[in-house]
Amino acid sequence: MPRAARVDSAHITPSAHYTGFVWYRHHLAEEPFVTPFGRLAHGLLAPVSWGARVAFGLDVEHLLLQRHLLIDALLREAVERRGVRQVVEIACGLSPRGRRFCARYPDLRYLEADLPPMAARKRLLLHEEGWLDARHQVRPVDILAEQGVHDLQALFSGLDPEVPVLVITEGLVNYFALPVIEAFWGRLATQLQQFPSATYLTDLYPDLREHPRYRQLRWGIDLVGRLTRGRYYLHYRGDSAIVDGFGRCGFGDVRVHDPKELDAAPPDAWPALVRVVEARV
Ligand SMILES: C[S@@+](CC[C@H](N)C(=O)[O-])C[C@H]1O[C@@H](n2cnc3c(N)ncnc32)[C@H](O)[C@@H]1O
Repeated sequence: MPRAARVDSAHITPSAHYTGFVWYRHHLAEEPFVTPFGRLAHGLLAPVSWGARVAFGLDVEHLLLQRHLLIDALLREAVERRGVRQVVEIACGLSPRGRRFCARYPDLRYLEADLPPMAARKRLLLHEEGWLDARHQVRPVDILAEQGVHDLQALFSGLDPEVPVLVITEGLVNYFALPVIEAFWGRLATQLQQFPSATYLTDLYPDLREHPRYRQLRWGIDLVGRLTRGRYYLHYRGDSAIVDGFGRCGFGDVRVHDPKELDAAPPDAWPALVRVVEARV
């Protein structure tokens, strides 16, 4: 029986409504990306976010924005300086990135993908706004599928193998235990080998045990796990372990980015908790 039939990650999907509302609140998304559930979840969690900010100096929305803006900056660089013309955003949820980048770069092809129900919802949203066309599309995918209509091979078969590609995942990888997500990275690296050049960008929360806010972070991620009826894992002990781990999955050139690289990075009280990994096969 394929693994996708045994491991189900649909419980993660509601979190996309919350982040979708955060992108809107910070002027990164237009109103159609807001759902009633996203607005409600944001309101219900506001006291928790406020408490974490006041008691621990941890700002949840700031953490989310750090990863989102850093991925945006690296994607812009790839499009403007490295000739990337095809983007695949896996686990796109209600992210407005595809809409923003298609509006800004008329030559860009942007494929968004998510589990079938979220993919259907995103397709409808973009269709109703008149934003779907031949170069901006949405497809169903399950990163856990080793074979079948929702596997990576089916997703990548729709791309031009002669053109450089960039793949994004955001807000996804820490929901899975390391062997599960490393198996996905291995399958992804295999798919990416067919392109003349291929880059993978993902945010990742490492297991930074020396961090002054480590205990509070653990408390926060346990809460995220409980709210999404699953678990939330921290992967790798630091930057060099990240490079080694991605190397084992088939990525030869791996860079680990810290949000402090962002041009407009606001001053932070603590070293950053999130990283963005830029990995090439
Ligand atoms: C926290 S949300 C992040 C959404 C978006 N990337 C963002 O940052 O706003 C996680 C997303 O992962 C998707 N997801 C969960 N399991 C998945 C799987 N097995 N394959 C593909 N996507 C999955 C969910 O449906 C959800 O949209």
